[in-house]
Amino acid sequence: MEFFIDTGDIEEIKEASKWGIVDGVTTNPSLIAKTGRSQHDVIHDIVKLIDGPISAEVLSTDKDGMLKEAASLSEIHPNVVIKLPLTIDGLAACKELSEKKIKTNVTLCFSVNQALIAAKAGATYISPFIGRLDDVGHDGMGLIEEIRTVYDNYGYQTKILAASIRHATHVRDAAIVGSDVGTMPYKVLKSLYGHPLTEKGLDQFLKDAGLQ
Ligand code: G3P
Repeated sequence: MEFFIDTGDIEEIKEASKWGIVDGVTTNPSLIAKTGRSQHDVIHDIVKLIDGPISAEVLSTDKDGMLKEAASLSEIHPNVVIKLPLTIDGLAACKELSEKKIKTNVTLCFSVNQALIAAKAGATYISPFIGRLDDVGHDGMGLIEEIRTVYDNYGYQTKILAASIRHATHVRDAAIVGSDVGTMPYKVLKSLYGHPLTEKGLDQFLKDAGLQ
């Protein structure tokens, strides 16, 4: 399973990059807005820190505008992945970009049919938002499982990128149901290391070795 960090915060990316388990980065307009900087500046900094897919989202809602933004974002670095909303225009733009071999991440996916049409449009990644589905009483992880089945039924190569991950259990369950990627906030990524028995065991070992 690939791990992406879902943030625009350069300090978080710098710190997590030292751990050796971050394969890529996802951003969205809300995360970029929190930085108070332009998307171009933030993405410029991120590509220097992580050598992997970096998703940058378009703000246009029409296909031509999206393609224009995609061209400008792609110029930043070959690792930039164009993040597009799951709309008719977004998927039309996705189709054109995939024909040009430009990587895409189709975002705001909340149903199997949406994931299916994104795969048909040649999306590199599909981003089902599991936390937001759970928030409204739906089954986010069930959606990941269903998309896995449908993609495997037809051999679609689109990677499932579990997004809107809120806690470590989401990561565990997404891995169990076969999500290709999980994108998660810094604090969730860090929480994956924690186990009280690891801490207790290490304390004991250090005591026994006379180091504490
Ligand atoms: O980047 C997309 C996604 O991960 C957003 O998560 O927590 O705002 O629902 P959240």
